Amino acid sequence: MRTLDDLLREGVAGRTVLVRSDLNVPLDNGRITDDGRIRASLPTITELAAAGARVLVCAHLGRPKGQVKPEYSLAPVAERLAELLGQPVPIAPDVVGDGARATVAALSDGDVALLENVRFEPGETSKDSAELGAFADQLAALADCYVDDAFGAVHRAHASVSGVAERLPHAAGRLVLAEVDMLRRLTEDVTRPYVVVLGGSKVSDKLGVISALLGKVDRLLIGGGMCFTFLAAQGLDVGKSLLETDRVDTVRGILDDAAERGVEIALPVDVVVADAVSADATPAVVPAAAIPADRLGLDIGPETVARFAQLLGDANTVFWNGPMGVFELAQFAAGTRGVAEAIAAVDGTTVVGGGDSAAAVRLLGIGEDRFTHISTGGGASLEYLEGRVLPGLAALED
Ligand code: 3PG
Repeated sequence: MRTLDDLLREGVAGRTVLVRSDLNVPLDNGRITDDGRIRASLPTITELAAAGARVLVCAHLGRPKGQVKPEYSLAPVAERLAELLGQPVPIAPDVVGDGARATVAALSDGDVALLENVRFEPGETSKDSAELGAFADQLAALADCYVDDAFGAVHRAHASVSGVAERLPHAAGRLVLAEVDMLRRLTEDVTRPYVVVLGGSKVSDKLGVISALLGKVDRLLIGGGMCFTFLAAQGLDVGKSLLETDRVDTVRGILDDAAERGVEIALPVDVVVADAVSADATPAVVPAAAIPADRLGLDIGPETVARFAQLLGDANTVFWNGPMGVFELAQFAAGTRGVAEAIAAVDGTTVVGGGDSAAAVRLLGIGEDRFTHISTGGGASLEYLEGRVLPGLAALED
């Protein structure tokens, strides 16, 4: 894989370098609530600008589905990027139109500009290869070479991810290289016990990685909204909790498979329930086997946190993806905080994978430096661990 160093050695002064970053940050009324992905994009951008490149950054925000929707504008991101870089970052008024071309034409060596949200263009995510290719052509026409630094999007076969790499001299950026290096250690070179903690809402998103991990891990700890499908597969009544009924049989199969392989799958023994997902809701702790029919589980309970902490205690390698509960609401944050603290206390390699769990670490004020690595990619890191071919990485190979 060609790297940023190869490109810098060739020389980038005076060349327009299109950098694909993952700047998909959480926003609350136009305010960025976690700028971790913007900060993670800085090393590559800074190095290129310092070497005299004309840096044209492109990125997506949310899923505007090929339409220009002002609430998905990257304008707040451009503002934050400018603050962090300490230099102006003008944002083009469009993605590949006259505005983008004028923005590129105005770049001097060492300047940085941002294109508007690439997902405003239907070609970016199109399933029609001709439409996707035509948009990739337009993006490629704006620059002389391409650097993919959007680790969080490498699992997407989108125009700005794999399409442009096929059309321009390309290289992997610092973030992509660091992320791949760390995840490779989890697949090739694991020091045991290896414990994986999974949470988040949808079990259907995680079935592939769970099946792949059963052959590799020593213990799997499961919390978050997805745990209720596991509890249901054990025959428990989960009240109004999130439940993917069409996955219960598959999950039962996973539990059987784990038992045969001698892999421990630890599920919550108690949960925090309420009558609604609301900041005003009154929480109550109940045994996982006694969730009231009119309540839904919104966090793992204290006994579960203690049990998970014990199972993490002797781990030498930990991968964690997905919050344990609705951590954005204070009364349902204790499970995520407790598990994050237990992982931070582990002596070995600890990797936090993903947008939500990484944001949780920062929003709950747990020091980022207490983990070996905090990945910027949720879906991407899971697909990597599952052993899938990631289109963004494959496109950088040749
Ligand atoms: C993410 O948030 O995981 C990445 O930015 C990818 O976003 P997507 O799931 O909308 O493709």
